[in-house]
Amino acid sequence: ARSLSKVLQLTLAVIKPDAVAHPLMLQALHQRILDNDFVIVRRRDLAWTREDSQRFYSEHSGRFFYQRLVEFMSSGPMRAYILAREDAIRHWRELMGPTKVFRARYTSPASIRGQFGLTDTRNTTHGSDSVESAQREIDFFFPDFCAEEWMKKEEPSFR
Ligand code: PPS
Repeated sequence: ARSLSKVLQLTLAVIKPDAVAHPLMLQALHQRILDNDFVIVRRRDLAWTREDSQRFYSEHSGRFFYQRLVEFMSSGPMRAYILAREDAIRHWRELMGPTKVFRARYTSPASIRGQFGLTDTRNTTHGSDSVESAQREIDFFFPDFCAEEWMKKEEPSFR
């Protein structure tokens, strides 16, 4: 049994179309998840319509990269995971590295984006950035999933 120094947390991780397009990269990213003590709670392969993409990123609708982002995220298949770990949100974001690919290359060359990111848009992965966004995003990708139920049932086995 593992011991939890902090509270068990859920986060949403997405492997974006650029990474899913390369079978070896998809496999490497899946392995990265397993190697970093995340438990895979749910996993789903899917593809977005333009409308799904617009809805998910509506908070960025005023930004210069919005159209590009929406286009890219509905350009091909993705893989979404619900991941569980102590401090999962922070750990997954650390593993991804910075959003901006140049920063990722220079400051975190061993991170996922440092290694595999192509541009600020084609940056391989997404991760929730707060407890609130994790809830919203898990709901968006896994509408049938009930976090409270899962916690009640599974949390004791992480202690
Ligand atoms: S920022 O710049 O700090 O506001 O970026 P962030 O809020 O972390 O995420 C913005 C998402 O938009 C995608 N995207 C870009 N960000 C910045 N600059 C450019 N040019 C750009 N193009 C696309 C970026 O990958 C983030 O996507 P997600 O899926 O949230 O990681």
